[in-house]
Amino acid sequence: MPTSEGHPVALITGITGQDGSYLTEFLLQKGYHVHGIVRRASSFNTGRIDHLYQDPHVSGTRMQLHYGDLTDATRLGELIERIQPDELYNLAAQSHVKVSFDMPLYTADVVAVGALRLLEAVRDAQQRIGRKIKFYQASSSEMFGMVQETPQTETTPFYPRSPYSCAKLYAHWQTINYREAYDLFACCGILFNHESPRRGETFVTRKITRTATRIKLGLVDKLYLGNIDARRDWGYAGDYVEAMWLMLQQERPDDFVIATNETHSVREFLDEVFGHLDLNWQDHVAIDPAYYRPAEVDLLIGDYAKAERLLGWKPKITFRDLARMMTDADMKLAEQELKLRPK
Ligand code: NAP
Ligand code: GDD
Repeated sequence: MPTSEGHPVALITGITGQDGSYLTEFLLQKGYHVHGIVRRASSFNTGRIDHLYQDPHVSGTRMQLHYGDLTDATRLGELIERIQPDELYNLAAQSHVKVSFDMPLYTADVVAVGALRLLEAVRDAQQRIGRKIKFYQASSSEMFGMVQETPQTETTPFYPRSPYSCAKLYAHWQTINYREAYDLFACCGILFNHESPRRGETFVTRKITRTATRIKLGLVDKLYLGNIDARRDWGYAGDYVEAMWLMLQQERPDDFVIATNETHSVREFLDEVFGHLDLNWQDHVAIDPAYYRPAEVDLLIGDYAKAERLLGWKPKITFRDLARMMTDADMKLAEQELKLRPK
């Protein structure tokens, strides 16, 4: 299954996630043939990409899904060998920081060793097929953790504060090591928080937009949150997937911070969302310490100057527009829920 009819071939792990869905849309528009690895689950987990699905019986199909898991090295090796992608995007992860404190070993297996399994499979496949497979690793601003300097750049020292970020740091350095040791075309995108209407519902921005819109329609009363003083650099996922692709189109592999260079507190996000709905969040939000983390990352703000200079990339969607876009999309879901509710 090598490069198909002149179309470049991409393989995406984590295709069913927020970023996987936007990246698939982006690559299909660019003319790619996109393969994605999907975990087997007892119910469908492809909701974010169903609108992109193409019937494999129809000729000319440019999107194909394959069962696989980052814990299964044999399957990863077999898929890479068979698909022979030009570009491989490793987006799969147990990506929830709070959950990583509850499941540290599983998180390390998927996030840290999972990336290493892929790097080994790529190194092996490249030798056999005699050409490069470009590799993108989804690194994270969480690796900066306990802040050493602001804004954070590619040279800021890391200080991870969770099992998730320790695992991401391992994957980050393995990717760099494989580039230096084996001449892999491997890039790390150090992406700061990025959100969208497709964001998982347990991340703070989506939890807020989902619950605030339900409060507005009288479907629930309260929104329970943890540390609302935390500050993040929040961008739009649709903007960020383009940066992933741009990294793999350069002459030389390199690592880049992708961010907005703005920081906002969870409180400010509450202001934007509840304000947009003509509500006062202080009337509806309660603090539940169950959502506190054993160790917290207090402040993230990223400097994307290197990406702007070398990739020509910069963010397009502002903090306010992002909050409104997510609120408006969740208002539609809340309205549907209200209609379907038994009277
Ligand atoms: P997400 O929505 O949580 O998606 C994660 C994806 O990984 C899903 O497709 C999930 O499958 C898949 N996955 C989880 N465990 C797996 C396993 N064992 N084997 C194979 N696939 C597995 O995450 P995202 O927001 O799109 O983020 C994409 C990547 O960027 C992640 O690596 C994340 O850690 C990293 N990142 C995200 C941000 C951000 O702000 N969004 C910032 C920096 C870095 P299911 O759909 O079946 O769960
Ligand atoms: N999830 C969540 N739920 N977070 C809360 C809540 C709550 O009820 N209340 C307050 N917060 C605070 C968290 O303590 C954290 O400081 C902040 O809101 C953001 O939390 P998340 O939205 O869960 O994101 P994150 O910053 O921990 O991690 C996300 O961004 C990373 C990049 O910096 C994830 O997408 C990671 O996968 C990603 O690497």
